[in-house]
Amino acid sequence: MIMSESLATVSYLGATILFILCLGGLSNPETSRRGNLYGIVGMTIAVLATVFGPHVSSTGYAWIIAAMVVGASIGVYAARTVQMTQMPELVALMHSMVGLAAMLVGFANYIDPAASAQMSGVEKTIHEVEIYLGILIGAVTFSGSVIAFGKLSGKISGNPLLLPARHWINLAGLLIVIYFGREFLNAHSISDGMTPLVVMTVIALLFGIHMVMAIGGADMPVVVSMLNSYSGWAAAATGFMLSNDLLIVTGALVGSSGAILSYIMCAAMNRHFISVIAGGFGTTGGTPAAAGGAQPAGEVVPIIASDTAELLRDAKNVIIVPGYGMAVAQAQHTVYEITRLLREKGVNVRFGIHPVAGRMPGHMNVLLAEAKVPYDIVQEMDELNDDFPQTDVAMIIGANDIVNPAAQDDPSSPIAGMPVLEVWKAKTSIVMKRSMASGYAGVDNPLFYKDNNRMLFGDAKKMLDEVLVALKS
Ligand code: TAP
Repeated sequence: MIMSESLATVSYLGATILFILCLGGLSNPETSRRGNLYGIVGMTIAVLATVFGPHVSSTGYAWIIAAMVVGASIGVYAARTVQMTQMPELVALMHSMVGLAAMLVGFANYIDPAASAQMSGVEKTIHEVEIYLGILIGAVTFSGSVIAFGKLSGKISGNPLLLPARHWINLAGLLIVIYFGREFLNAHSISDGMTPLVVMTVIALLFGIHMVMAIGGADMPVVVSMLNSYSGWAAAATGFMLSNDLLIVTGALVGSSGAILSYIMCAAMNRHFISVIAGGFGTTGGTPAAAGGAQPAGEVVPIIASDTAELLRDAKNVIIVPGYGMAVAQAQHTVYEITRLLREKGVNVRFGIHPVAGRMPGHMNVLLAEAKVPYDIVQEMDELNDDFPQTDVAMIIGANDIVNPAAQDDPSSPIAGMPVLEVWKAKTSIVMKRSMASGYAGVDNPLFYKDNNRMLFGDAKKMLDEVLVALKS
């Protein structure tokens, strides 16, 4: 021990405040860098106060430092090599680690003779409830996140796996978990308690697999943020097991912010949280859906880069709608160059951001910030959706589902009711993508066939480079 108990407590308090400031900062693109910094400083203080605090003896330092070197090396390697488009998979994998840690801490805590010897009566029962719940939440988070990783990385099919009587299977699992919870609390020795604990862990692991396997590709973003919330509650449960206040507070912050994010994303996709959990919506995506209601018909009108540049040059108001394809093509820097040029010519250029554009929350904001697009021209869908009728050109860069009018017009569409950017109300809309393939939800897009729409086929970066050259000439 290097730090006294009181210094560790003050450090924990400081770290808690920094985490709250971090979350506050992350809620706005302009303050997000500062928010991130608060989080880094808070986490550094938290780790140092734990490692050098009163609960770790100096004999453990070698182990802790070795574990930190291994963990930090893997983290740095992953952060450096991961593509922006693979972020959701990485996040899912990280959630699984939190779940695994909660499980392992739970078992270690239960078999630790020092921990149980100090407790008796109600205190012991409460501690055992903490262990049971901690392992339960940890196991669901672990296996659910591993399956989410598999689905997001394409290693497992995105199609929902719908077992017959699946809700009854889940209910039976819940009842068994409650029954074994009682057995666990009534156990007289550690070896007696081990059987119910292991049975519950196996059921929780199977439940996590079953829950996420039943969820279709289109709902995966909500599931990832839901697992984010679970990982927070798993961390909070670990905090209770270890009597670590900071872990409890941090876990609760992550758990509740993840739950709020899941709610916001459900609203953005017009999905009810319960129906997301119940599963069954969406496919792997990437091909036009066969059962997408009335299929749009007609011809699409292609356009070339020089004509696109002409339209942009003549426009007074332009709204750019970026989507997943902009991230794939890494076209954000060229988008910024075009924006700068148009603004210099007096064109009012704004960006319309859908809450689930791309593949992770804030995906587009991160890319545009990286390309140094000014924050004040990057607006949320709700802020500018009414402005499309006064817009000369709506330029859609690698976006598809988020600009699909079927969400409003076709009640039988799988994305019916999802709020979308109403780009078709602009004088001209230009969709930039490589082919007629569908987007993530796997549904065809009637926007492509509208009279005022033009298709600029090709890789977004290549096409935008050509538009930029034409604009400069
Ligand atoms: P999508 O609907 O997935 O459409 C992206 C389009 O980009 C595709 O149709 C694709 O068409 C095009 N594209 C791909 N690579 C391209 C390239 N190199 N150059 C040009 N175009 C390219 O994307 P969206 O409109 O952003 O909507 C997001 C969807 O993902 C929603 O359904 C949402 O629910 C889901 N989702 C969101 C999240 C979060 S949290 N944001 C996470 C997971 C899933 P081509 O193949 O023809 O080029």
